[in-house]
Amino acid sequence: MTTFVLFGGTGDLAKRKIIPALYSAFLNGRLDKNFAFYGAAREQIGDDEFRKRVSAAIAQYSKADVLNTPEKLDAFLAMTFYTKIDARVDADFAQLKSSIASPDTQSTLFYLATGPDLFVPIVKQLSEHQLVGKLARVVVEKPLGRDATSAREINQALRVYLQENQIYRIDHYLGKEMVQNLLALRFANLFLEPLWNRTWIKDVQISISEQVGVESRGDFYDHTGALRDMVQNHLLQLLSIVAMEPPVNSAPDSIRDEKVKVLHALHKFTPDEVAKKTVRGQYRAGAVDGQAVIGYQNEPGVPAHSRTETFVAIRAEIDNWRWAGVPFYLRTGKRMASRSAEITINFKQIPYSIFGGNQRNLRSNRLVISLQPEESVELFLKAKEPGEGIRLSDVMLNLDFAEASTSRRVEAYERLLLDAMHGDLTLFVRDDELSAAWDYVDPIMTTWQNDAEGLKSYIAGSWGPAASSYLLAQHGSSWGEEFVEG
Ligand code: BG6
Repeated sequence: MTTFVLFGGTGDLAKRKIIPALYSAFLNGRLDKNFAFYGAAREQIGDDEFRKRVSAAIAQYSKADVLNTPEKLDAFLAMTFYTKIDARVDADFAQLKSSIASPDTQSTLFYLATGPDLFVPIVKQLSEHQLVGKLARVVVEKPLGRDATSAREINQALRVYLQENQIYRIDHYLGKEMVQNLLALRFANLFLEPLWNRTWIKDVQISISEQVGVESRGDFYDHTGALRDMVQNHLLQLLSIVAMEPPVNSAPDSIRDEKVKVLHALHKFTPDEVAKKTVRGQYRAGAVDGQAVIGYQNEPGVPAHSRTETFVAIRAEIDNWRWAGVPFYLRTGKRMASRSAEITINFKQIPYSIFGGNQRNLRSNRLVISLQPEESVELFLKAKEPGEGIRLSDVMLNLDFAEASTSRRVEAYERLLLDAMHGDLTLFVRDDELSAAWDYVDPIMTTWQNDAEGLKSYIAGSWGPAASSYLLAQHGSSWGEEFVEG
């Protein structure tokens, strides 16, 4: 028997991601037979109203065909309940305890989809009401803290009530199929490893571009910004998996031990370096896919003169033997030209071309790992064009995972929820990883706070400020979409 309690159960993330993920796990027979789902939030509503909202969330955001599965939906709703919870009110937790049949003998997963300021008060209450025994696990959403100091404070406070192996810090990028495939690609194949270092690789680019703006989260986003929202977590997690040493085995801590070493080796910027190696931008009105969109400062919930960044590009460096001197370009932005998440490994040029001068200018080999919208691995090689003489061009070996396997795709949130229910910590972030990631972004945040002029604007629907292209051009490189062979 498993009980799942979702704090922030009436919120946006619950609606869009967590409830649909839970429902998909249910439809696919992945939940325990005696499963109970409690939505918990401050609103004073009853089970029936909560069930209505759960059905609406599933109808709107679930990929399952709800109309064709009404009896399944009914069965799911029959195990769905609501409990009103205010982190300051003892009686609410006493009520929760009486609802959960026997917290000592069944596994309970508490998912805190709330702001980080509520993590400690909620866990303290759970502990005082003997709800976090050995079989309990707690998932905490990002962002965990606002900077290195607050993240450490929250982690220390959580550890007063919980063991580290009961804390599941979620980063949903780790649940994406291709992120796990990256581990397989790197450590289950022989041919890449000898090339995976500074001798053969010119640079690495990790780019997550979004077409959406801040949606209904203007207020939250304005206090967060792209550096905290995407770089501190998703981008640095991807970087650590690309750059880590082979772990001794696939146990959660073996993998996390190697990832954290990379995060520790990230070169921390001085204020001068921040100016040279980072770019930040904010979108102004423009058009995405031909549709006119408003600028960031006109979004609901965003102050008219906001200086919050919606775009970041960084030339990161890793100070270790494998990667010294290899730039890792990180980029993310809202309202960009297209939606994609991609890791590009650019190899160095051949040392000498036997085919004559011009051929030397062709783009060097590259490996592109796409996380979304398609899941693929593409290896760009040079080959001869058919016909007379030798003219070289780029050809691509393309592994499209949708074609390669028809197995069911498990969405990131579903995968991570199930892992947490089964006690598998591999795809969750350990406290030292989190602190190391904050230690890297902290000096960037501080320098930006003192430099109001550094924020560039970019047109919605573009690839970000021109300075982002310049960041790479200075080192003879360019972002994937910019390269023109010649
Ligand atoms: C979230 C951010 O963590 O990731 C959002 O808070 C962002 O701002 C989202 O839109 C992107 O996730 P995905 O899976 O759609 O690329």
